[in-house]
Amino acid sequence: MPPALDDIRALIEADLEAVDTVIRRRLDSDVLLIRQVAEYIIASGGKRLRPALLLLAAGAAGHRGTHQHELAAVVEFIHTATLLHDDVVDESDLRRGRATANASFGNAASVLVGDFLYSRAFQMMVGVGSMRVMDVLADATNTIAEGEVLQLLNVHNPEVAEAQYLEVIRRKTAKLFEAAARLGAILGGAPPAIEEGMATYGMHLGTAFQLVDDVLDYSGDHHETGKNLGDDLAEGKPTLPLIYVMRNGTPAQAAVVRRAIEEGGRDEFRAVLEAIRDTGALEVARAQAHREARVACDAIVQVADSKYRQALLNLAAFAVDRNF
Ligand code: IPE
Ligand code: IPE
Ligand code: MG
Ligand code: MG
Repeated sequence: MPPALDDIRALIEADLEAVDTVIRRRLDSDVLLIRQVAEYIIASGGKRLRPALLLLAAGAAGHRGTHQHELAAVVEFIHTATLLHDDVVDESDLRRGRATANASFGNAASVLVGDFLYSRAFQMMVGVGSMRVMDVLADATNTIAEGEVLQLLNVHNPEVAEAQYLEVIRRKTAKLFEAAARLGAILGGAPPAIEEGMATYGMHLGTAFQLVDDVLDYSGDHHETGKNLGDDLAEGKPTLPLIYVMRNGTPAQAAVVRRAIEEGGRDEFRAVLEAIRDTGALEVARAQAHREARVACDAIVQVADSKYRQALLNLAAFAVDRNF
């Protein structure tokens, strides 16, 4: 059994509630549509993993101040903005168990409210008043945008190599995990070696997390993930399961996948799924996520032992064995 996410969160329950209070307060705008769209996606839940990561890293680094709630909310706002934009780009219509914001309010509203959340996050981080913090978050946000654009360039291209795929997920997903973990260390006043260890932990945790997200796109249960299966294939995204089949499947299996990537859509979903199952591609991708999680955990060996550090280790185990 993977560690239960609720058990990991229990350690920082009061902090997570404080973060949600900050989130609600900071969604304020006198433009009604902004409140409607932003509250729609935020109130629909989400695992709040990135805020949890920042809080746990801050705890492990011995932080005792108050900025952690504000910054955890900033990280969740940046994440939420990327989701609003990502669902437009991916033409997804289900998230967190309900219609995506783009499906409910339209693409234009989603893009613009995503911009509102990004810029609100920047107002909040300026309020914290630390050049170091702004540097980390400005960098992360910029890198995420690069990752999403790189991914756009890879769509419908069956020649994309595993290394290119990994580069995309490091930027689009892992960078924000890295930033959250690094900010926790910075808040705790950790020495450079500990800060780098935390950042490395976050980067590999985020990579493992996205590897599993890409596995769940072929094998998840939409009741658990709250998202539709097959969105990646529909969009022609060359994720690791597909790259593996093209490299290790029979010529016929490779041809099915190649064509599906080139053409996109859902017509080939069953045939592709069969090739993925026959070649064990999902197990291979999960195994790779396990390796990333191990590297993550190794990066925080020098962090003083505490219940927070233990929770970070559990979070890595959750990220690879999760079904949602
Ligand atoms: C979804 O992230 C986007 C990815 C990077 C895969 P989460 O799975 O953390 O989304 P929520 O916040 O829990 O809905
Ligand atoms: C995550 O990639 C993209 C972001 C970092 C926003 P996905 O496109 O796989 O995320 P989901 O599956 O839509 O949540
Ligand atoms: Mg998507
Ligand atoms: Mg996905």
